[in-house]
Amino acid sequence: MSFKIMLLPGDGIGVEVVSSAVKVLKLVAEKCYISFEFNEGLMGGCSYDEYGTPLTDEVLEECRQTDAVLLGAVGGPKWEGLPHESKPEAALLKLRKSLGLFTNIRPAKVYDSLVNSSTLKPEVLKDTDFVVLRELTGGIYFGNPRGYDDNRGWNTMEYSYEEVERIARIGFDIARNRNKLVTSVDKANVLECSQFWRKVVHEVHKDYPDVELRDMYVDNAAMQIVRNPRQFDVLLTSNLFGDILSDIAGVITGSLGMLPSASLGTKHALYEPIHGSAPDIAGKNKANPLGTISSVAMMLDYTFKQPATASLIDKAIEQTLRSGFRTADIYSEGDTLVNTEEMTQLVLEKIEEMNTD
Ligand code: IPM
Ligand code: MG
Repeated sequence: MSFKIMLLPGDGIGVEVVSSAVKVLKLVAEKCYISFEFNEGLMGGCSYDEYGTPLTDEVLEECRQTDAVLLGAVGGPKWEGLPHESKPEAALLKLRKSLGLFTNIRPAKVYDSLVNSSTLKPEVLKDTDFVVLRELTGGIYFGNPRGYDDNRGWNTMEYSYEEVERIARIGFDIARNRNKLVTSVDKANVLECSQFWRKVVHEVHKDYPDVELRDMYVDNAAMQIVRNPRQFDVLLTSNLFGDILSDIAGVITGSLGMLPSASLGTKHALYEPIHGSAPDIAGKNKANPLGTISSVAMMLDYTFKQPATASLIDKAIEQTLRSGFRTADIYSEGDTLVNTEEMTQLVLEKIEEMNTD
């Protein structure tokens, strides 16, 4: 079996963490008799510097021709002053929209060995395991009209029936294979768009009588995630609410550096760690590569249908953490501090030791 992967390391620490994840992919390829064909391109600030645009048509086309895209991170202070369409973030939104990646899955799972790394109490966090399922190609991020002039700024929050229906179905499907609870997040006490969202989600729910549906206002959801995160299984959100809640969910798990994500459409898939480009530590061999390594585990599971290989990687990460090794972002007293390359090497060694028979 051969799979095509497009690598977009991007800016800042994206370069280091993607290189770590590629080493892991190469090792599992050898061990599990899979073969990968890699292609690589520029996206984000690095593409702007080279070509005057954060995403060229060529790179976009190459992403279309591939089985899965692995993205590091984009952006940084150097490009913050650019006009909207030249910003690295605009490239990410264009990529999501062009590839039709309407489903964004961001797992929030607290590793036992990291339960003390969060700013929240371990007893609140222990055994937390939910996913934020975020609609990714609609809502206020893409609604028209939008703009600003000297006197006002405006955006439009809108969802069509189909957009809400398809993400809701995915939410119920995911919940069916987990703990059978969907919490749909909205602001239906204020926004018509949210009232519509709630109505559609309830209609779709009729096809899933075995899954429980709860509605929650977004402000309450933000509070509940830090108050009692174990109450959640699948958190179903619109684009903007999911953006905000997934950062909150990220921090309860110890570090944003740990968390993977998958963005899926009907034809394409993109995997990336949740963290950003972290310009302050870029190039210093300090970044946590585990979020990106977990992202390739998700890729193996969802796109390449290799769940056994995916769980090999997950187990290697868990064992490495259990042995007390930590990058700076998850380090606390008594741990062994390691850099990006050392952490990668440790994970590779654990995979190497594993039995695949
Ligand atoms: C994310 C990021 C992006 C978003 C930015 C970089 C455009 O915050 O993936 O959560 O808002 O979707
Ligand atoms: Mg975000």
